[in-house]
Amino acid sequence: MSSYDVIFIGAGPGGYVGAIRAAQLGLKVGCVEGRETLGGTCLNVGCIPSKAMLHATHMLHEAEHNFATMGLKGKAPSVDWKQMLSYKDDTIAQNTGGIEFLFEKNKVDWIKGWATIPEAGKVKVGDDVHEAKHIVIASGSQAASLPGVEVDEKTVVTSTGALELGKIPKTMVVIGAGVIGLELGSVYARLGADVSVIEYLDAITPGMDAEVARQFQKMLTKQGLKFTLGAAVQGVTVKGGKATVTYKLRKDDSEETITADTVLVATGRKPYTEGLGLKELGVEMTERGQIKTDSKYATNVPGIYAIGDTIAGPMLAHKAEDEGMAVAEGIAGQHPHVNYNVIPGVIYTHPEVANVGATEEMLKEEGRAYKVGKFPFMGNARAKANFSGEGFVKILADKETDRILGAHIIGPMAGDLIHEICVAMEFGAAAEDLARTCHAHPTYSEAVREAALACGDGAIHA
Ligand code: NAI
Repeated sequence: MSSYDVIFIGAGPGGYVGAIRAAQLGLKVGCVEGRETLGGTCLNVGCIPSKAMLHATHMLHEAEHNFATMGLKGKAPSVDWKQMLSYKDDTIAQNTGGIEFLFEKNKVDWIKGWATIPEAGKVKVGDDVHEAKHIVIASGSQAASLPGVEVDEKTVVTSTGALELGKIPKTMVVIGAGVIGLELGSVYARLGADVSVIEYLDAITPGMDAEVARQFQKMLTKQGLKFTLGAAVQGVTVKGGKATVTYKLRKDDSEETITADTVLVATGRKPYTEGLGLKELGVEMTERGQIKTDSKYATNVPGIYAIGDTIAGPMLAHKAEDEGMAVAEGIAGQHPHVNYNVIPGVIYTHPEVANVGATEEMLKEEGRAYKVGKFPFMGNARAKANFSGEGFVKILADKETDRILGAHIIGPMAGDLIHEICVAMEFGAAAEDLARTCHAHPTYSEAVREAALACGDGAIHA
């Protein structure tokens, strides 16, 4: 039995980041993880492997579509699927191994196994019971199930199975036009699969600025993805290695079916808290199965905290990381703060889509007076040279004060470009502050400055 100041349960981006921060602040820290490797869903079966697949298939797309134009002649590469999966696995291994190194460097004990909390102050892993003054639950989330749909991770898969398919499917149905569906749908469309996306709502990517969502759907359609919107999936049957999806069109209740080699279920995720013993401990939960916490991530049981996908808010690795640091700093006696108004969201398709802060729809609903500064990548020299002229940057600013309220980018490197706007928002900047900041030429980020200029007297290159 060992004794710790704090034990984090789960070594995903919430738990491992929190554990490292707590150790840096002089606390004795353990982190329980039952997987073979550290890093949680994000590093093992989520963010990182999917980005490797997106990168590899984007390279293929470039070779097939743009190389000849640049004078790079020759046959487009063929796909060695086994090698592509092995590249993905190497990428995972490098990253998970990196966390192990960081744990050693920071003297965080990796407690291997699955944890339960028999009582406040104690964490049981296998036969060992460890003492901890503070326990932080960072156990993440799992794919939500859909009634009538049985996942076998071979023909009917979640994102986990979709990253391990035995072969590239000829046809794929994606249920849910959210982040996972569109990222992985793009991967397989680029690999030649006929990809059909079925979405319950009348637009893709719920919650996204509507103008961006429309443009995004157009671009993905051009890339070969087919969309059926306003359709509720009723069930999936599998026969002879093929899956048939039945869905009902909401407009007239008519029922349709579609058959494919692979069905990807991407209809959201839910907190993963089973087996921790929370019910017995009397930890309060929300109606949506999330752990209830206060602003310091404390549950109603003294000494037990929760962060990341197990609590309210967007299920994003970087949100969990920020909460991990904050909970550690709070336990160490500091006064941290996570600004939930400035949490960016990124979809790593090509082009990327990124957002931060309010959407136009949100501002309209609030009845807030705002202005829009928009700039198309077509007016950006670098983007044109790199076949990336589609898309735009849109900045929303307060009509009176010019303070930036939100930003939405669809275009090259959107996931990186968004951050100068995040920093600006964190400092309460006005659009004019961005517009007056010198931006190097020729860079994609000039499009951000131009959108900021468009909030004032006008963009130069539009
Ligand atoms: P999501 O919540 O983004 O999208 C799920 C979609 O499925 C919604 O559009 C919903 O309307 C639709 N849907 C639900 N039931 C349906 C039905 N019966 N028939 C048809 N459509 C239905 O969930 P997703 O894509 O599974 O992602 C899960 C979580 O993981 C999200 O919170 C997401 O933010 C996170 N994630 C983030 C990534 C990133 O930041 N790049 C990458 C992958 C996941």
